[in-house]
Amino acid sequence: MNMAIRFDEKKKMFQLNTKHSTYLIGLTPEGYVGHVYYGKGLHNMCGGYLLRTEELPFTPLVNEREKISFLERFPSEYPTGGIGDYRESCLDVKNESGSIGCELLFESYRIQKGKKGLPGLPASFGTEDEVETLEILCEDKILRLRVILSYSVFAACDIITRSVQVENAGNQRLRLEKVYSACLDMDNREYEMLTLTGSWARERHIQRGRIRYGKQLVSSVRGESSHQEHPFIALVTPDTTQETGEVYAMNFVYSGNFIAQAELNQFDQVRMVMGIHGDGFCWNLKPGEVFQAPETVLAYSSEGLGKMTRNLHDFYRGHLIRSVYKYKKRPVLINNWEATYFDFNSEKLLDIARSAKKYGIEMLVMDDGWFGKRDQDDKSLGDWTVNEEKLAPGLLDLVEKVREIGLEFGIWFEPEMVSPDSDLYRAHPDWAIQIPGRRPTQGRQQYVLDLSRSEVSDYIYKCVADILHSAPISYVKWDMNRYLSDIGSCCLDKDSQGELFHRYVLGVYEMQERLTTEFPELLLENCSSGGARFDPGMLYYSPQIWCSDDTDAIERLRIQEGTALIYPLSTIGAHVSDCPNHILGRNTPFSTRADIALAGTFGYELDITKISEEDRAQIPGQVEACHKYQELIQKGDYYRLASWSDRRPYDCWEVAAKDGSEALVTYIQVLSVPNMPSRVIRLKGLEALAEYRLEGAEDVYTGEELMNCGFLIPAEPGDFVSSRYHFVKK
Ligand code: GLA
Repeated sequence: MNMAIRFDEKKKMFQLNTKHSTYLIGLTPEGYVGHVYYGKGLHNMCGGYLLRTEELPFTPLVNEREKISFLERFPSEYPTGGIGDYRESCLDVKNESGSIGCELLFESYRIQKGKKGLPGLPASFGTEDEVETLEILCEDKILRLRVILSYSVFAACDIITRSVQVENAGNQRLRLEKVYSACLDMDNREYEMLTLTGSWARERHIQRGRIRYGKQLVSSVRGESSHQEHPFIALVTPDTTQETGEVYAMNFVYSGNFIAQAELNQFDQVRMVMGIHGDGFCWNLKPGEVFQAPETVLAYSSEGLGKMTRNLHDFYRGHLIRSVYKYKKRPVLINNWEATYFDFNSEKLLDIARSAKKYGIEMLVMDDGWFGKRDQDDKSLGDWTVNEEKLAPGLLDLVEKVREIGLEFGIWFEPEMVSPDSDLYRAHPDWAIQIPGRRPTQGRQQYVLDLSRSEVSDYIYKCVADILHSAPISYVKWDMNRYLSDIGSCCLDKDSQGELFHRYVLGVYEMQERLTTEFPELLLENCSSGGARFDPGMLYYSPQIWCSDDTDAIERLRIQEGTALIYPLSTIGAHVSDCPNHILGRNTPFSTRADIALAGTFGYELDITKISEEDRAQIPGQVEACHKYQELIQKGDYYRLASWSDRRPYDCWEVAAKDGSEALVTYIQVLSVPNMPSRVIRLKGLEALAEYRLEGAEDVYTGEELMNCGFLIPAEPGDFVSSRYHFVKK
């Protein structure tokens, strides 16, 4: 295999090659590190002319008197603030006298096989055959600040990841006011910006629109990646569909505050940046200290959004998720939250477990309400002792009984929080994040624990670990049910309070690292009021994340479509719940709810002892379908064939085996349309000349027929109706 990364000494250019894309970085004679090109794969380097150093205003070496004009239009790999590039900067450094200014010039580089981890942070990984890394060392000689720009090339997945390390190599105290992780400067091509936006119970809806002059961004300053906006941005050419068009995407491997921004300037240049949000952020860098910024994933596709999606899925499955469950069969679970809310005891849970077992379900998850005096959501977070009135005679007894019934046992925690009405808060009021002298704002009647303090995270971690050691527990749902506010820590001095947001996220990562190291067989599912922290950072620790508190099948179409645009189906926590839906009040057929949950981790969240006999009778068939398709869904290629979110009355997706041996198509007729013939759906990812049998029918089709002529989906009366088609190669 060719080297993925090369340096041309003569042209002073780095060429980074994935299977289908090329990324070029050029150096000016002074040592500015410029962005030359990112796009379709090139065989040979050319491109240096794209830095336009031969055009007015020329480079500062030639034309020092117009340095400001140069900086304003130079396509930079990593722009710095304060010296005359008025577009968004990626790095703002304050010196001891309080001025912001930094100029990075190239010093040296290193190309290595493999990829190092990032201290304290989640990061992608790969073997020496799978990934190569380029490190470009730049320096500001006046500040004696050394900055390493890292680029890791995952050639087979068409992914390049970037991260940045900043070191204070001098002897003055420096203060980082902003450190982003990636920048992409390009000439505009009528780009449209695609982002994911939403709210609680309607996370990650796809939004797309043409970029305009000025800055447009999505961000979070809530202390987590959030329901509202997502650490993802794509610029796409206007012709972009699932199959056509060019896509430049960035996704942040981080779970706290972020910014993802596109800026169109006076010269029709676009600057795309991603990083930790500068608002509320600072980091003090004493002499000798290093700051590591999180990783950004860059995906380029010249074959539309679908290819980007499949590349990201392969990348996250192969190079970010570590859990032993990545490709392992996950148990079909039943969670008692929507079944009972806080109103349960051992007997109730055992009733659910017994019935669940009869119908083929494999794990019972006990949700919120099992600890302290937690009969409603205003108390006891932080008091991780079993409520033995509810769970008489104790947790171990319950878990053993559930296991005797034949189910595994899972449990819910919300480790990052404390209720004002809790023994923990009464003992340690200072453990809550707060500004001295001000009563902190409550969210869901709770405060956030100051996880920047090791005595706090040690204590909470021990509570969680003690429970897990007390009984054979197979699964943990780790929840986080409010945003951060009142940012203040009594352990940080007045100049360091701006570090708290990031230190908090590092604290969460550290706890999850400990948990997954001490309990490597545990199936961990992250969650945050539904899907407020569904991001690549959390996927590093848990192979699945609860996607949304909205379990309404039809609302889930949009939520899961937006989520699956980036993340593999195997990561999307999806359950069948009861109707009328608890959030929307909508009624949908039980079978439709199951077909939509099958495009995720699949489970139930209802009182199985109370639902109708007809619904219950469908469960064994649904569980069987989950067993049958789980491997395909976990490992296959996902194709979005039609979208309800595009205002069509139907929605359709396919998962095809990588070797073309089978494909599963799910079709949802959201609204029935009068006087319509059958619909043609064109499949993808099949072997053209192979023959495919439609399971349950006599029909045989060739792959090329299904992909080009399409398959006819009969029109049926009724809204919210689903159907599944499984094609198997003969
Ligand atoms: C969050 C979760 C729910 C449930 C509740 C319990 O909202 O998203 O699934 O666990 O908390 O309080």
